Amino acid sequence: MAKPVTQFTCSTCGAVHKKWSGRCDDCGEWNTIREETPLGTGPGKGALGSAKGRKMILKDLRTKETPPPRQSAGVAELDRVLGGGLVPASATLVGGDPGIGKSTLLLQAAAAFARQGLKVVYVSGEEATAQVRMRADRLGLSDSAVMLASETNLRDIITTLEAEQPDLAIIDSIQTMWLDTVDSAPGSVSQVRASSHELTTFAKRRGTSVMLVGHVTKEGQIAGPRVVEHMVDTVLYFEGERGHQFRILRSVKNRFGPADEIGVFEMTGRGLAEVSNPSALFLSDREQPAPGSVVFAGIEGTRPVLVEFQALVAPSNLSQPRRAVVGWDGSRLSMILAVLEARAGISFQGLDVYLNIAGGMRISEPAADLAVAAALLSAREDSALPVETVVFGELSLSGALRPVSQAENRLKEAVKLGFSTAIAPAGCRITDNAGVNVKSYSDLPSFVGDIFGA
Ligand code: TYD
Ligand code: MG
Repeated sequence: MAKPVTQFTCSTCGAVHKKWSGRCDDCGEWNTIREETPLGTGPGKGALGSAKGRKMILKDLRTKETPPPRQSAGVAELDRVLGGGLVPASATLVGGDPGIGKSTLLLQAAAAFARQGLKVVYVSGEEATAQVRMRADRLGLSDSAVMLASETNLRDIITTLEAEQPDLAIIDSIQTMWLDTVDSAPGSVSQVRASSHELTTFAKRRGTSVMLVGHVTKEGQIAGPRVVEHMVDTVLYFEGERGHQFRILRSVKNRFGPADEIGVFEMTGRGLAEVSNPSALFLSDREQPAPGSVVFAGIEGTRPVLVEFQALVAPSNLSQPRRAVVGWDGSRLSMILAVLEARAGISFQGLDVYLNIAGGMRISEPAADLAVAAALLSAREDSALPVETVVFGELSLSGALRPVSQAENRLKEAVKLGFSTAIAPAGCRITDNAGVNVKSYSDLPSFVGDIFGA
C-alpha cells in the first residue's frame, strides 16, 4: 500500500490532518495548516528491537543514591515557578510573545545559575554573540561565566554540548534551530518538533538541563510553542501587557512541581527586576474609593495576590451592547451578567460593560466571580465599596456563593496590605480571621441586598 508522501500539520497545535483546510479542527485557528513531509515512517515489522530485560517492577526499583537536589538560581521568583529550582536533566519550555523579554529573562537566569556554580551555555539562534554580549553589558552581567554561542545548526550545537557537558543549556529560540535530517525550513512544525526531540533526549542522556525559548506566533508560518509542550517536563509562559512594565512568568505544566505558580518581574532599563510583593505593586495606583473598583484577594499557585478589578458600565447606542474584557475570561463575564440578571434581577441590557484588571495581570480563578459581580454592580449603581474591603467567592449559576480554598491565606495577605474587611462566601474554612472583619453571604441576592441595598 502506498504511504502518503505529505501530511498537513497545524503550526499552532501540531495536529496532523489528512487534507488541507482553512481552519484547524483541533484548535480552531485559521490559516495555520501547512503541508509537510512526515518524519521517518518507523521501523519495518522485522526491525523491532528485542524486549529482553526491559520489564521492571516498580517496587524493585530502588534509587541508588538520593536524587541530586534542585539547583536554586538564587532568584526567588524564578525558583518558585520552577517548583523550587532547576531539576537536573529536565527540559523546560519558556514561551511568550516576541519582544516580551524572554531573551532578557533567560540571559539573566543563565547568569544567576552560573553564579551558583553551574556550567551554563547560552545558544542564541537570533543574535550574534556580540549582540548578546551587548545585552549582557546592559544587564550588568558582562563578567558572568556563561558561555555564549551563536548557532542554528542543531547538529553542531549537540556536538558542542557533548564536548562541554554543561549543567544547563539555553536555546534561544527553538524556532531558529534546524536539523539537516529534516527536509523543511527552520520554524516549521517538523523542524521544531525534531529539534526539540533531539534536545530533550540529549538532556535525559547527558544529565544536562535544557531550556528552550519559543515565540508565540499568530500567523502560522512558524510553529508555535504548543507544538513542543508535550515533549518537555515544564512549560512556562512569560506574559504581560505591552505598555505595562510588569511581566509574569507562569508555569502551566510542571512534572516536578506545582503548576499555576507565578513569578512577578518588572522590566527596567537594566533588565528584569524581581517583584517580591506583587500585591503592593498591582494596587499601587489606588487612592480614593472609586465606583467600579473592587480588590480581589486571589491565590496564584501557592501565593496570595491582591489585584484590582475595574468595571465601567455606560449606556450603549449599539443594538448589541459591548462586552469588553482585559485580563479575565469573556465568557465568564457573560455568565456573571446572566446570573446577576436571573438571580438578583439586575439587568445590564442596553448597557456597555467594560472589565479590566489593573496592572496587566491575568486572573483565571473562579474565586474572582464575586469580585467581578461586585465591580459590575458598583459601576452600575455608581456606588463605591469602602476602600479597605477585599472580595472573594465563586458564583454558581443558581446564584449561590460557593466557598473557596485558602480563605485564611487570602485574609492574611489582605491584612498585610492594610485591608480590614472581607466579603466572602459562607462556609469557607476560617479558624483564624487574622483580625479581618469577615462578612459572609450564602447567595448573591443577600450580598446584593446588604451591600448595595437593592
Ligand atoms: P527581549 O528579551 O529581546 O524579548 P524576546 O526575547 O521575548 O523577544 O526583550 C525585548 C524588550 O525588552 C525590548 O523591547 C526592550 C526591553 N528591554 C528593556 O526594557 N530593558 C532591558 O534591559 C532589556 C535588555 C530589554
Ligand atoms: Mg529574543
